[in-house]
Amino acid sequence: MDEKIKSVTEDSKTYPPSEEFVRRATIDAARRKALLAEAAEDHVGFWKKLAEDELQWIQPFTQALDDSQAPFFKWFADGQINASANCLDAHLADNADKTAIIAEYDDGSTRTLSYRQLHTAVCRFANALKKAGIGRGDRVLIYMPMVAEAVIAMQACARIGAVHSVVFGGFSARSIHDRAVDAGAVALITANQGKRGGKTIELKKAVDEALELGEHPIKKVIVFKRTDEQVPMVDGRDIWWHDAEQGVSDSCDPEPMTAEDLLFILYTSGSTGKPKGIQHATAGYLLWAKLTCKWVFDIKPDDIFWCTADVGWITGHSYICYGPLLAGATQMIFEGVPTHPDANRFWQMVAKHKPTIFYTAPTAIRTLAKLGHDLPGKHDLSSLRLLGTVGEPINPEAWRWFYEQVGGGRCPIADTWWQTETGGATIAPLPGAVDAKPGSCTMAMPGMDAAVIDENGNEKPRGEPGILAIRKPWPSMLRNIWGDPDRFRSTYFPADIADGKYYIAGDNAVQDKDGYFWILGRLDDVLNVSGHRIGTMEVESALVASPQVAEAAVIGRPDATTGEAIVAFVVPQNELPEGEAAQAMSASLRDWVKKEIGAIAKPAEIRFGSNLPKTRSGKIMRRLLRTIAKGEEITQDTTTLENPQILEQFKKQS
Ligand code: PRX
Repeated sequence: MDEKIKSVTEDSKTYPPSEEFVRRATIDAARRKALLAEAAEDHVGFWKKLAEDELQWIQPFTQALDDSQAPFFKWFADGQINASANCLDAHLADNADKTAIIAEYDDGSTRTLSYRQLHTAVCRFANALKKAGIGRGDRVLIYMPMVAEAVIAMQACARIGAVHSVVFGGFSARSIHDRAVDAGAVALITANQGKRGGKTIELKKAVDEALELGEHPIKKVIVFKRTDEQVPMVDGRDIWWHDAEQGVSDSCDPEPMTAEDLLFILYTSGSTGKPKGIQHATAGYLLWAKLTCKWVFDIKPDDIFWCTADVGWITGHSYICYGPLLAGATQMIFEGVPTHPDANRFWQMVAKHKPTIFYTAPTAIRTLAKLGHDLPGKHDLSSLRLLGTVGEPINPEAWRWFYEQVGGGRCPIADTWWQTETGGATIAPLPGAVDAKPGSCTMAMPGMDAAVIDENGNEKPRGEPGILAIRKPWPSMLRNIWGDPDRFRSTYFPADIADGKYYIAGDNAVQDKDGYFWILGRLDDVLNVSGHRIGTMEVESALVASPQVAEAAVIGRPDATTGEAIVAFVVPQNELPEGEAAQAMSASLRDWVKKEIGAIAKPAEIRFGSNLPKTRSGKIMRRLLRTIAKGEEITQDTTTLENPQILEQFKKQS
């Protein structure tokens, strides 16, 4: 048996929540049991009741699930609702003066906004959008630094029924252009600059470059003035945020949307060169964003919640822009990076703002543990009562460090497995009711019918790895891939697995003897670098777009800090570079990938060869490349290779 699987199916230590935590927890063991039983007995009825209880409807729905067009499921379809009204207006009567957002800037300065102030800011900007001609159903790209205005922009779109599509601020001009074209976006919201780790991020410049790259549908660019720097403004196209708000009213009625109207499109990598525009519908998505905040993060009115994700990823959507506001919490948003000015930054921020719940990524935990094993102990972290992780499996060593050094041994850790496509945490503990096992995301949430199956759809015995599937539809599931329903069906409901009946997550997993889920990695060609999804094909396409490259194969190798690291095997267009020439070409190709996609997709290592190892039928033998990248001896059969001598060329460069 695979070592990795063996190690997880063996007994591993469990960490129950403290009595103190359980006493206050929203969901205790009895409540969890009841929820699981309700969901098992009547799946649709379970969701129907929750949607009625948790969301504020402009017009109630009459039918919870419409599965007549499966797998294009519809939830609560004839109800009317507005996302921003649920996040903001819902709290005005009782909690208007409560702090909604604590924003810390890169330089350490802070700004807070009460629910009333946030409501006003969102209404004003919503009116500015309307004045700029943006309305219901229009797609709007958002390319912003991690400041409160990113949330305000998203909420303002939701308020007027425009569909936002946030592009991570680290993505390149090319990525912005491609997404604008694919989404048919009419407007783009950005900032003149951003600040991260003491560096200036030239956001507007990237937007200008993007809009020079070819035809595009963007008519308006609204620019938030984050710094004092002047940037060129294109007449008739560009307008400053503060100018767009001139003369607008402080109130803006929320647009009545149907439950199934799109709330947003978020692009994520898949197994082709082209990212997929994942569509989320309004009501179903909101319901789970709110409930997971209450159930997984145990958010109560007096909690301060800090999620360190960027709003450019789904985690920042569900657990910065929507969930905590739906739950009426106070939340933190941070512009900078955990290592600036030094590795004390996160811990200083905990001592300063006193969050009670802290949600971050394993890669950040590993980096910070490496930079300062004992640094958390130098700060007052006593406000914390619950910790969370997301994005990739957390190795038990990092888990224990997080538990002991950051959580002081008293905070449960919620390891949350989910995806852009699932909308919110899917396999995750209800921390007052489920003991943790370091490295496992524990059990499926109530209402989430997750299972490890074989290709026929049969559940795998405990301890045997298989395909991770979700067997029943759920309200926050993706609705479609923008402009590509065939890809939606073939990717998520592939006909060759369980006859296309189940949602297939793309992950490989195993359940241990207690039913705990352990995620073993992707089934497709998607890498997980620092918790970010990157398609190998995407990087390959970027590389071969360079005039220097004839052919490229990209694979992931395990990395102690980033989870996986990108290794590219490149066949140059001209002669094979060696020594300094190889180094120079490697540097220029890394920059090229940064320009094509963004810094997160830069290969950690590039090796050059006069060909790629291929079978006689021309198939690239990626398995061999993985072995070489790991520096391991090749034990695989290479007799089917057309060109075995290529392996030596690549091996030599370690
Ligand atoms: O492979 C799984 C991994 O990240 C993928 C989803 O990536 P993305 O859509 O970018 O969303 C990330 C944040 C929700 C999954 O298919 N993944 C996510 N969380 C975990 C994880 N793998 C193991 N454990 C997790 N907790």
